[in-house]
Amino acid sequence: MSNRKILVTSALPYANGPIHIGHLVEYIQTDIWVRFQKQRGNLCYYVCADDTHGTPIMLRADMEGISPEQLIAQVGKEHLADFTEFGVAFDNYHSTHSEENKIFSSLIYERLRDAGHINSRTITQGYDPVKKMFLSDRFIKGDCPKCGAVDQYGDGCEVCGSTYSPTDLKNAVSAISGAKPIPKESVHYFFNLENFNDMLQAWTTTPGHLQPEVSNKMAEWLRGGLQQWDISRDAPYFGFEIPDAPGKYFYVWLDAPIGYMASFKNLCDKEGLDFNEFWRKDSDAELYHFIGKDIIYFHALFWPAMLSGSHFRTPSAIFAHGFLTVNGEKMSKSRGTFIKARTYLDHLNPEYLRYYFAAKLSAGVDDIDLNFDDFSQRVNSDVVGKVVNIASRCSGFIAKRFDNRLSANCSEPALFAEFINANGTIADLYEAREFAKAMREIMGLADKANAYIDDKKPWLLAKEDGKDQELLDVCTMGLNLFNVLAVYLKPVLPALVSEAEQFLNSPNKGWINELKPLLSHNINEFKPLMTRIEPDKIAAIIDASKESLEKTGDKLKTEAKAKQFEPVAPTVSIEDFAKLDLRIAKIVKAESLPEAEKLLKLTVDIGDETRTVFAGIKSAYTPEQLEGRLTVVLANLAPRKMKFGVSEGMVLAAGPGGKDIFVLNPDEGAVAGMRVK
Ligand code: MSP
Ligand code: ZN
Repeated sequence: MSNRKILVTSALPYANGPIHIGHLVEYIQTDIWVRFQKQRGNLCYYVCADDTHGTPIMLRADMEGISPEQLIAQVGKEHLADFTEFGVAFDNYHSTHSEENKIFSSLIYERLRDAGHINSRTITQGYDPVKKMFLSDRFIKGDCPKCGAVDQYGDGCEVCGSTYSPTDLKNAVSAISGAKPIPKESVHYFFNLENFNDMLQAWTTTPGHLQPEVSNKMAEWLRGGLQQWDISRDAPYFGFEIPDAPGKYFYVWLDAPIGYMASFKNLCDKEGLDFNEFWRKDSDAELYHFIGKDIIYFHALFWPAMLSGSHFRTPSAIFAHGFLTVNGEKMSKSRGTFIKARTYLDHLNPEYLRYYFAAKLSAGVDDIDLNFDDFSQRVNSDVVGKVVNIASRCSGFIAKRFDNRLSANCSEPALFAEFINANGTIADLYEAREFAKAMREIMGLADKANAYIDDKKPWLLAKEDGKDQELLDVCTMGLNLFNVLAVYLKPVLPALVSEAEQFLNSPNKGWINELKPLLSHNINEFKPLMTRIEPDKIAAIIDASKESLEKTGDKLKTEAKAKQFEPVAPTVSIEDFAKLDLRIAKIVKAESLPEAEKLLKLTVDIGDETRTVFAGIKSAYTPEQLEGRLTVVLANLAPRKMKFGVSEGMVLAAGPGGKDIFVLNPDEGAVAGMRVK
């Protein structure tokens, strides 16, 4: 078998939220397939990145009072830590907000433009006059024009299911500021997808490119006619500016798939690989994209068209999977089944979930269900009860009676050969992403290994005289069968198998071709490889998910309300607050300096001393309105030298400015000098 060159991707997770167990279906599925390819000796690279652009990320950063760059750096770190702990082993994890991605996005855009695939025209869109930004359909809310349901999005009603344009909404408001959107014109850039009608017709029906059910869906879409795709967004937008269109940005979905290339380019630069070998038009390398069924349109239509129009190779195949449901229902925040990767990791071994997903996954796009009873039962009975059990049943005798040295005999060559000969079937199933079937084959073998041990009864042999050799042979056989199973399970359970390899003193086996029984071979001390899932851990996960999401729920509710004020600043501790020395102050004198446009000079009594404070409140107060009043000043602010003198504190006031400035006033009874805390 000649070594294949394979580049594999998973969809790039959005940087506006944490990884959850739904995402993990995809990353675990891809990782298993990639580990299998590597184990087979193929040259296989697995790249991914955070998908960092777009309005939601910009708004979330804004809400948190940080820059989008800070937000995506933080989230990128968290995503990668989650993936790593789940054993998802990318060869590179990058970001779409990267130099490589900017270069490729511009290049692809320019090639498409120069070939006549881009045009521009003016469209009218809802505009938020407060936030000063255009509003996509998702950011306009109002009453459904059909059924009157309140609080519906601009693109469709979740109550009656009708779709409409945001201009049809009654009482429409911006979901961001609560302001009434006004129609406003703007030039947008479009990708002429219809130029690729024939190309896509051929590409989507070529066997192997798409799963049959996906190919059928595409045929439907193609029959419906291809629309021009709007690829630009107006500032303010977090993304890449379009090279020849200042103030216009690439829509996030334009540069997101290009992020696959960018991440691979980044890897090539780090490791001296040849990028073009994988991406040039006549490349003989294979390119696979694992995605969820919700983003097929982008990957099976837009992406091949973009690549073909810009003279790059198209994917070898798109592998779509279904959605995760939990206990038969959509993941739900209120039921505690919207489980973050991190919450799971706080309580359970990640390889339980890897095995369970493998045991459920097929090559199709059907949804897969995580049923918690089934989950415990499956993992406990298959991995712990069948596979690990073989090793624990045999290892004790080898340790106690034979000094951890295996027999020189393979006493059941036919049984060993049967295990080895299953490798072709199992490999074909892995290759075809029929992981559930592969797990069934492997567990069938595990059953045989256990039946063999049950039949030979080493625990009885151990008690009989003169049966030492037989005992050693049986346990040696058992461990060798276990060793074959470990090879087959390695793509799914890398951590468990790595410990098994350590125990068997037999590392890095690759696939089965070269596997010989371990004979006259020293092994290491056995440690329990995996323990059973405890039901209270699952309860704890559900509990923790309910908790953490109640908070998010509240947050979302306030978000949906009109936002008229600046976002609340990042949380501080009580110690942080205690650093501010706020005092009740009496304004004993207020002077208007003719040269100062905004400032009033105040003399304030703060109990044991008087201070001079310059306050920017001239537009709202006359000196007379202030003299004699009590207010609050920040007394330990570092003195600041200003044009008209040194300011030794700060008067506290609220309001946006101009006439609207409101100096604080303590309640009756407070006297100058009291600390505010
Ligand atoms: N950013 C886009 C992908 C851009 S690819 C150029 C995106 N991000 S996502 O974070 O929403 O989803 C990432 C992947 O996880 C998608 O393939 C999506 O289908 C998958 N899943 C998200 N939720 C899922 C489930 N509940 N179940 C299974 N897969 C799910 O889409
Ligand atoms: Zn409706």
